[in-house]
Amino acid sequence: MPTQRTAVVTGANRGIGLAVARELATRGLTVFLVVRDAEAGLRAARDLSAFGDVHLVPGDLSSPTTTRLAAGRIAHACPKIDVLVHNAGVWPSRLERDDRGIERAFAVNHLAPFLLNHLLEDALGGEVGGRVVQVSAGLYVKGRVDVERTARGDDFHAIRTYATTKLCNLLLLERFARRLERRRVTINAVHPGVIRTNLGDRPGALGVVLRGVKRLWKAPEAGARPVVRLALDPALAGVTGRYFDLDEETPLAPLARDEALAARLWEQAEGLCAPAREAHHAGSDASQRSG
Ligand SMILES: NC(=O)c1ccc[n+]([C@@H]2O[C@H](COP(=O)([O-])OP(=O)(O)OC[C@H]3O[C@@H](n4cnc5c(N)ncnc54)[C@H](OP(=O)(O)O)[C@@H]3O)[C@@H](O)[C@H]2O)c1
Repeated sequence: MPTQRTAVVTGANRGIGLAVARELATRGLTVFLVVRDAEAGLRAARDLSAFGDVHLVPGDLSSPTTTRLAAGRIAHACPKIDVLVHNAGVWPSRLERDDRGIERAFAVNHLAPFLLNHLLEDALGGEVGGRVVQVSAGLYVKGRVDVERTARGDDFHAIRTYATTKLCNLLLLERFARRLERRRVTINAVHPGVIRTNLGDRPGALGVVLRGVKRLWKAPEAGARPVVRLALDPALAGVTGRYFDLDEETPLAPLARDEALAARLWEQAEGLCAPAREAHHAGSDASQRSG
């Protein structure tokens, strides 16, 4: 008798994450929505409960400290994860740092998936293997990593920093693929398309223009489709360490294949996140059933 399959989706209260969670629930997976805003999470869980079995897990991924807490809650709520979707992302317009001085996009887009991959390793996979999907962005090609400055945002730029954090994340893809292989867990990254969400919204006149332009972009469901494909398509069983532009497997640009830079970033992330420490802050009351 097969056991119920599970998926964990970060940033699942709106945008692409909400659409991914809805599709996974519709396809019969039990879905855990990792959400930092309790009210928005409850709304999403209520809406999605019409499509399937969904649960809420509070989780703020804006610093390694809060991500560690989130990992504990996720592992408690879902001890066996078949699909982990790193979807939460930010495109900040100004420099913000956490209490340890880490720039926000670097923390959410790069360090949070790094730490979750480590802390949820034991839960991932099980007997039939598992899949990790990293929601990436084609803009990574515009990134420029400076290991000495990027983590603190000393090189912050309202457009380039987003691309840089996505590049950082992709630079570690191959290393995670090798690491997770022994557990029969695959990891792949995907550019979901140019999608009409709140990502990168700006205040003022620029924001008004941007919102106007976004009306022409595709709906979140279109962005969810290639993500769900990587999560579930049997044809992709065993495929790992690859980057997809929508459905098309695409070689990473040379700047995302710089092994020396990847080694430095990995070491830096280990220093900033201390992933080997146990996620002992797990909140036993953290998982809430929806509905
Ligand atoms: N939209 C596009 O055209 C596009 C293109 C390429 C890649 N992507 C990628 O797609 C992913 C989803 O983006 P989207 O377009 O759906 O954007 P979105 O509508 O802005 O949604 C972002 C999600 O991430 C969550 N999030 C942000 N910071 C968080 C934190 N500190 N802790 C936990 N959750 C946090 C948000 O939660 P809150 O509601 O609490 O803020 C929200 O649920 C991102 O990784 C993005 O880089 C999007």
